[in-house]
Amino acid sequence: MALLRLLSLFSIFSTIFTAAFPEVKVQQARDEPYVGVNIGTDISNLLPPAQLVSFLQQQKVTHIRLYDADPDILKALSKTKIRVVISVPNNQILGIGSSNTTAANWINRNVVAYYPDTLITAVAVGDEVLTTVPSLSSMLMPAIEALYSALVASNLHTQIKISTPHASNIILDPFPPSQAYFNETLAPVIVQLLQFLSRTGSPLMMNLYPYYVFMQNKGVVPLDNSLFKPLTPSKEMVDPNTLLHYTNVLDAMIDSVYSSMKNLNVSDVLVLVTETGWPSKGDAKEPYATIDNADTYNSNLIKHIFDRSGTPFHPEVTSSVYIYELFNEDLRSSPVSEAHWGLFYANSTPVYLLHVSGSGEFLANDTTNQTFCVAMDGVDGKTLQTALDWACGPGRANCSEIQPGESCYSPNNVKNHASYAFDSYYEKQGRAGGSCDFKGVAIITTTDPSHGACVFPGSKIISNRTDAVVNSTNATSEADTSRFIGTRPYKDGFWGLVLGIMLYLNIL
Ligand SMILES: *[C@@H]1O[C@H](CO)[C@@H](O)[C@H](O)[C@H]1NC(C)=O
Ligand SMILES: *[C@@H]1O[C@H](CO)[C@@H](O)[C@H](O)[C@H]1NC(C)=O
Ligand SMILES: *[C@@H]1O[C@H](CO)[C@@H](O)[C@H](O)[C@H]1NC(C)=O
Ligand SMILES: *[C@@H]1O[C@H](CO)[C@@H](O)[C@H](O)[C@H]1NC(C)=O
Ligand SMILES: *[C@@H]1O[C@H](CO)[C@@H](O)[C@H](O)[C@H]1NC(C)=O
Ligand SMILES: *[C@@H]1O[C@H](CO)[C@@H](O)[C@H](O)[C@H]1NC(C)=O
Ligand SMILES: *[C@@H]1O[C@H](CO)[C@@H](O)[C@H](O)[C@H]1NC(C)=O
Ligand SMILES: *[C@@H]1O[C@H](CO)[C@@H](O)[C@H](O)[C@H]1NC(C)=O
Ligand SMILES: *[C@@H]1O[C@H](CO)[C@@H](O)[C@H](O)[C@H]1NC(C)=O
Repeated sequence: MALLRLLSLFSIFSTIFTAAFPEVKVQQARDEPYVGVNIGTDISNLLPPAQLVSFLQQQKVTHIRLYDADPDILKALSKTKIRVVISVPNNQILGIGSSNTTAANWINRNVVAYYPDTLITAVAVGDEVLTTVPSLSSMLMPAIEALYSALVASNLHTQIKISTPHASNIILDPFPPSQAYFNETLAPVIVQLLQFLSRTGSPLMMNLYPYYVFMQNKGVVPLDNSLFKPLTPSKEMVDPNTLLHYTNVLDAMIDSVYSSMKNLNVSDVLVLVTETGWPSKGDAKEPYATIDNADTYNSNLIKHIFDRSGTPFHPEVTSSVYIYELFNEDLRSSPVSEAHWGLFYANSTPVYLLHVSGSGEFLANDTTNQTFCVAMDGVDGKTLQTALDWACGPGRANCSEIQPGESCYSPNNVKNHASYAFDSYYEKQGRAGGSCDFKGVAIITTTDPSHGACVFPGSKIISNRTDAVVNSTNATSEADTSRFIGTRPYKDGFWGLVLGIMLYLNIL
């Protein structure tokens, strides 16, 4: 009884608390929340810039974040509608923070040279500097101020924002969210940063990973909460101070950031989630890094953002997010999950099919497990020609695209033509077992053999020639080497403890 009264008192407080964010509301009204993608480039065969950009367009990706300011990619983005966050790598912060000239040169070289043809929306200064390179902390604000001055000098400061992405562990005691606060040791920088963000109308950038919260608090944080799965009320987390119900971990993490800012009397800075995601594969110690979980997390994340339901603390504000990440980065070393955060393999075939019906057009339809049938290497031309003749004749493959003048005619050689014909046959047979053989000269591959304007029958790539409309179906619409090697820790144990208590209370 006493407990109940106490709780309802908090409930009134929470109403008052929530009403105290009018500025946030105003900003939000201007901007629709979006889902973007991070593009890490530790990839052995990254698509060339022009192809990368056309892939982004095919997939209806509207917002990307780069970990640097790659000139070729920025050039290729020119005249597209894709909005890009560029980054100052951590190793350039010292130079920029120590010299206004260096900062001005950076802005001239990486922003002024491309804007507005390339829609640069923000400059991310470093990545997780306060927690991964603490020795640079004192240079962070000088670098940010110097870059801002350079933007002002170019009169681009209203169009382009400056901020810096943080790891979630700058926030202590994140749960219940109402009790969260910034690590005091970092306060000198955080306070200055928040003043800057407030003054310039820029977002606080946060990398938030429910995956790591779950992994570090197994048995306490339910998997369902981490994956945004629908919950029975008894499984929802309840903040005992506000009585707000949390159906998912990401919202709780975002609210812990708002609470921490509130503790410093900052109420007009929005949270932008610069990274979030779930790995699709891991080693023996990462049993929850599975295709199913990654698909569920990212699909539900996308739906959640487009639902625009905000967070329990700020229902009026929906943070935009950048999924980590677009491509699997095969060159990343252990743990295994490091190389498996991508929605797509580097060759642009999907790792899994997102389930996001009815929420717009982001990320077009695609299949898991996409396979193609192509001619094997090292087979003599005569044998291939025989197989090709059979495929286009009795096999009834559709060979129209490999006729002279058509888009798959070139390169004009038997191997290319045979590959196209084999794949057509294989598709027509529904990719049935045994339909990619041709007396042993064909082989199944997951690499899309499409090239230039030539789109293979099994490919989901949309030919720019045919103007096919991707009716993006069930999909809709986010580096330094140090970026998260298992160091994404929410303060170990605390979540576990408090969540345990809260779940317990709730069950009462
Ligand atoms: C950079 O310029 C600002 C004013 O624009 C000035 O306050 C600051 O001292 C300068 N920093 C350096 C390192 O020269
Ligand atoms: C707060 O930050 C300091 C400086 O990075 C770090 O040494 C300390 O461990 C952090 N405190 C907690 C409780 O994580
Ligand atoms: C926040 O504002 C309250 C009331 O105005 C004040 O007592 C408190 O010292 C302020 N806190 C900070 C960190 O500025
Ligand atoms: C998308 O997926 C649906 C269901 O699998 C399918 O019917 C549709 O043809 C696909 N669209 C494209 C463009 O691939
Ligand atoms: C991949 O495709 C094969 C054959 O088309 C099918 O049997 C298998 O279940 C698929 N695997 C997945 C994960 O969809
Ligand atoms: C053969 O492929 C071409 C191009 O992809 C297509 O336009 C044509 O309709 C196809 N023909 C048949 C009989 O499916
Ligand atoms: C679009 O098609 C033309 C040929 O029609 C081709 O030259 C060009 O490379 C294609 N562009 C992309 C991005 O595939
Ligand atoms: C795309 O989807 C919309 C509504 O979902 C539908 O009206 C339209 O006909 C579709 N277009 C194509 C090319 O399938
Ligand atoms: C796409 O969504 C529709 C309706 O929500 C569903 O029936 C269909 O199975 C989904 N397709 C895929 C491939 O997920």
